[in-house]
Amino acid sequence: MPYKRITLTHFLLQEQRRLGGSGAFTSLMNDILTACKMVSHEVNRGALVGNHGVAGTVNVQDEEQKPLDVLANDIFLHMNALGGNYAAMASEELEDVHAVKGSADGKYLLLFDPLDGSSNIDVNISVGSIFSILRLPEGADPNSANAFLQPGVQQICAGYALYGSSTMLVLTTGNGVNGFTLDRDVGMFFLTHPNMTIPADTKEFAINASRSRFWEAPVKRYVDECLAGKEGPRGKDFNMRWVASMVAEVHRILVRGGIFMYPADAENIKKGGKLRLMYEANPMSFLVEQAGGAATTGRKRLMEVEPTNLHQRVPVILGSKNEVERLAAYHREGS
Ligand code: AHG
Ligand code: MN
Ligand code: MN
Ligand code: MN
Repeated sequence: MPYKRITLTHFLLQEQRRLGGSGAFTSLMNDILTACKMVSHEVNRGALVGNHGVAGTVNVQDEEQKPLDVLANDIFLHMNALGGNYAAMASEELEDVHAVKGSADGKYLLLFDPLDGSSNIDVNISVGSIFSILRLPEGADPNSANAFLQPGVQQICAGYALYGSSTMLVLTTGNGVNGFTLDRDVGMFFLTHPNMTIPADTKEFAINASRSRFWEAPVKRYVDECLAGKEGPRGKDFNMRWVASMVAEVHRILVRGGIFMYPADAENIKKGGKLRLMYEANPMSFLVEQAGGAATTGRKRLMEVEPTNLHQRVPVILGSKNEVERLAAYHREGS
């Protein structure tokens, strides 16, 4: 059989040739890949090098930081500054915009969640990193959060790295979704999941059911109908999953379908929801839509939400199109 494997770098070069790009994009993606490989290495070494436990600091979200939240953040900031492509960056772990020194020509903005699923680090369950790339608007001050406050539809690239039983990088530039697996011996990501697509129907849902007492009526109805199984109005049995790492949930959905919900509830709506719009919900929504799925707050297409704050939270419902649309319809009906 002829040898056919292609690396992520080759894939990006092919895209660059196809689109007639300058190479800046390929270069900035390479910095992200390097950062993800380094974080993967640290996740893998785990307790051997003191990467478990707590860091003893609290981030702008009022969350207790883990050593890997801090280290992954530092790795992302450092590796992505070197190429000089970004005018500025923003992270879950930083209150303010991070200006990139000496990048007067930087045309892009990078947003990231350096370590997603922090609560799973110490128990050796999959975690990930999420990133979103925006263009620096003409004339905008990159050191101001305002430059970043663009709706998800303006993303030019989004993706995640999943540090699971293997490390994967899944990516979209608005032309479908492709998945790459890290070959640790070679030190390269290879294309293993071309053109990922989400089936429109599913029998699998993911929600943190411990919050059911706070749920709104449409969510309660949707989950009750799933739980009723064959005997209920859906006429089929559903299975439930909850990893508590959004990256792992979205990856499962990209591979075999499903619906993921972190909806508004009576408690979290005081802060706007649980998940963060700019570096969790938007990049994941871009991937899911590009794979043929849908992503909504329940009341609005997620990528059309106009951001007002770098760290704003938002309700998230995403995955298999028919299920997401069903739940959105329940929201419209108000029950
Ligand atoms: P992070 O670790 O980046 O703060 O994100 C955690 C998020 C997300 O990954 C996950 O879906 C959700 O929080 C888990 O929430 P629960 O702890 O309520 O299950
Ligand atoms: Mn966090
Ligand atoms: Mn996260
Ligand atoms: Mn995080």
